[in-house]
Amino acid sequence: MDRIRIRGGRRLSGTIPVSGAKNAVLALMPAALLGGPLTLTNVPHLADTDTMAALLAQLGLTVEHDKQKGSLTLSGEATSLEAPYDIVRKMRASVLVLGPLVARHGTARVSLPGGCAIGTRPVDLHLKGLEAMGATITLDSGYIEAKAAPGGLKGARIIFPQVSVGATENLLMAATLADGETELVNAAREPEIEDLALCLMRMGARIEGLCSDRLRITGVPSLGAANHRVLADRIEAGTFACAAAITGGEVLLEGARLDHLGSVARILREAGVGLHEEHKGLRVTRLNGLHGVDVQTEPYPGFATDMQAQFMSLMSVAEGASMITETIFENRFMHVPELTRMGARINYHGSSAIVRGVPRLSGAPVMATDLRASVSLVLAGLAAEGETMVNRVYHLDRGYERLEEKLAGVGADIERVRG
Ligand code: EPZ
Repeated sequence: MDRIRIRGGRRLSGTIPVSGAKNAVLALMPAALLGGPLTLTNVPHLADTDTMAALLAQLGLTVEHDKQKGSLTLSGEATSLEAPYDIVRKMRASVLVLGPLVARHGTARVSLPGGCAIGTRPVDLHLKGLEAMGATITLDSGYIEAKAAPGGLKGARIIFPQVSVGATENLLMAATLADGETELVNAAREPEIEDLALCLMRMGARIEGLCSDRLRITGVPSLGAANHRVLADRIEAGTFACAAAITGGEVLLEGARLDHLGSVARILREAGVGLHEEHKGLRVTRLNGLHGVDVQTEPYPGFATDMQAQFMSLMSVAEGASMITETIFENRFMHVPELTRMGARINYHGSSAIVRGVPRLSGAPVMATDLRASVSLVLAGLAAEGETMVNRVYHLDRGYERLEEKLAGVGADIERVRG
């Protein structure tokens, strides 16, 4: 398994291109099951996009993936209506084929995704929403069997008891072809939802309430061809902002948008990080010292849970203490023991961690456990004294395109060790 070796202490300086958003493209690709052909540009080359492309091809779509150009054209229609366990277990976002398949073909058999390192990750909200639209859902041998009523899905008013990005995406897509009006109340407001809605509207969908927590969809008979550029990855941008800050450097995040950072921008500024929008993107500077800031993860526009581990690395070398509370997932502190091995002073009980900043971390061999925990160890390694070896970097490759190349491009001493 590949590893990443980092020798810390270099200030980052220069420009980092921000790639298309993983969590946007993993919802945009299944939209091609509703209609098409759909051409996506600015598609990041990630393990997860390859997995989704393989799933859609297995379902019968024609997938033309130009990884160099970052373009992806999806055409044809599903000839199989089953998403098998061996693909879904590798990537939970596979469940996003469920809504489109039931909406267009009236039926689908999709493996239950199962949990992952950060939590049990249930899909009950996805299933209850489809039932509200008239579908019959049965669970059989670890699979979701979904069947629309004769005449197809019907529009419905769906109130989410808690915010769910995936359930909002699945039901938004299903509603575009349902008969009548659907209202999604307490819908997720992440920028990736807006990006998906814009793409669906380009395909002919009728959607109102973009960027709000109340989406209204009027079903149409079919969706057609569209071209859509994937929005920049706000979590990658936030990750690199922490990299610049933790090394005391200055970088321009090309293509990043300040507004898409939501509360991450406010919290980073409170911690002593300078963020300035420029024509080409977001300039990040470290003003003076870093200060400990308390934070709680929340749905957008709150502080993103996908930025929690990275922020914890930053707070590990700040002056003072920081209380970090994870409210979205039940097991998202697996980076703590590894950061502690690098000299961080962190204690956690339940969903809250207290971080007491130290003047300097020290490099060490560490173990990646999930995507964002892995990158938090890379950030710590950039600032640590000596050498850090991050093992199991296949986690990183799921969500960061050319990570070591981008960081080396702004002065980090970082390389991949094949093995
Ligand atoms: C998406 O996951 C992202 N993944 C996650 O990013 C992100 O952390 C998460 O949204 C929250 O922002 C993709 O977009 C591919 P949720 P998703 O449904 O849709 C509970 C990363 O690192 N819940 O918003 O699965 C759930 O257990 C990944 O890029 C139910 O109880 O997240 C969690 O506690 C990690 N029932 C909370 O809601 C459901 O039916 C939020 O989950 C669905 C969710």
